[in-house]
Amino acid sequence: MHDSLKELFLKYVPPLIDRIFEGVLGEEIVEPLRFITPRTNLNLVQQLCHLVDAILPPADMNPPEDVVELEKLYLFCLVWSMGGALAADDREKFNSFITQIAQTLLPPNLYDNYYEPSNLSLDLWDKKVLKYEAPEDRKFASILVPTVDTTRYSWLLNALLANKRPVMFCGDSGTAKTVTVFSAFRALDPEKYIFLNVNFSSRTTSRNFQDVVEENIDKRSLKSYGPKSVGKKMILFIDDLNMPVIDTYGTQAPNALLKFLVERNQLYQRGGDLELRDIVDVQYVGCMSPPGGGNNRVDPRLMSLYCTFNVTQPSQKSTQQIYTSILQKHLLEFPDECIGAIDNITVATLSLFYQCCEKLPRTPVKFHYIFNLRDLSRVYEGLLLSTKDKITTKPQLIRLWRNECMRVFADRLLND
Ligand SMILES: Nc1ncnc2c1ncn2[C@@H]1O[C@H](COP(=O)(O)OP(=O)(O)OP(=O)(O)O)[C@@H](O)[C@H]1O
Ligand SMILES: [Mg+2]
Repeated sequence: MHDSLKELFLKYVPPLIDRIFEGVLGEEIVEPLRFITPRTNLNLVQQLCHLVDAILPPADMNPPEDVVELEKLYLFCLVWSMGGALAADDREKFNSFITQIAQTLLPPNLYDNYYEPSNLSLDLWDKKVLKYEAPEDRKFASILVPTVDTTRYSWLLNALLANKRPVMFCGDSGTAKTVTVFSAFRALDPEKYIFLNVNFSSRTTSRNFQDVVEENIDKRSLKSYGPKSVGKKMILFIDDLNMPVIDTYGTQAPNALLKFLVERNQLYQRGGDLELRDIVDVQYVGCMSPPGGGNNRVDPRLMSLYCTFNVTQPSQKSTQQIYTSILQKHLLEFPDECIGAIDNITVATLSLFYQCCEKLPRTPVKFHYIFNLRDLSRVYEGLLLSTKDKITTKPQLIRLWRNECMRVFADRLLND
């Protein structure tokens, strides 16, 4: 297997690195590909190795041995390592370049496919998407409609967590990063994992962060500290990791501490004897917004410890699927004429939303013109407050919908 992996490495990795970083396309030099957050060639190769490690069956499970058998697995890993953090617009270029080097028959878009170990082939993520079930607590915040995006990012997260690798999701506001991570956590075995959720903000200090971590770990042996429930692993999930302020020296103090923790699994005691403590059974997951547009850039040395993925805006199809499913579940026992209006309501809301995104750009005066999935959710949250004794006809439902749209979109607009 060693030789096969080496052959695949030589076939793909050097040309891909040249294409991504230098823009080498055959004899030509074109625009290099862009990342959502800075990455280096070494980061990409490291992520590739972590993914291959996570997916390749162990030696006693007779893993595929020769190049032909391994190629699909390798392609899948390449897409989610070399191509995982690429900007959304450049994924297509990456896909066509890799298809060109592969010179075998491949699906049109490798990003849409997962690797199926049972027959060593690639298959559509679409087939893995579970059916939507309404949450038991009936709270809007706990609704998660499985889509291609949530399914594949949860899958990648689980695969890497099982191999103890830190994972980072990077994407614009409202691309469902937090929702996806929480859904992946819910699917994990509660007997084995506990979660610690920390939200970073501009006011978070390294002290705050250390306090939160220390409150959640106990002494295990002389210098070793671990999660309070013995035998379980703690997943330390840090949301909005790019938020802490940059100090005079150009660092973000909580992130500098986090880097120390992730890299060495150790923390110094503050005060006292400044004891160096080993932290065991803790794993790291993070979410952040991409640098630029007012967002801070995170220390690349911290970023290089994480396997990083760009969470792109859900496609129009996924968005439609999310909101149609939510409404369908809620209106199940409503009159037929209301149920019949579901598709049109969703199409109209999405059309309104996309028009707002396109025609109402953000300017210094209209700085609050940011439209994302959260606004759509607010419209639907309002619709879900309807009850079947109050809404009995279609016009009543449409009136409610209009009211919600006015509230969420129109009330925010300025005249000049
Ligand atoms: N698959 C889905 N099912 C249900 N709701 C979804 C889904 N995807 C996105 N949403 C909705 O999109 C909104 C934004 O999601 P989320 O809070 O996870 O974004 P985010 O990427 O974490 O944004 P930020 O960077 O601002 O924290 C939420 O209100 C959520 O209800
Ligand atoms: Mg979030």
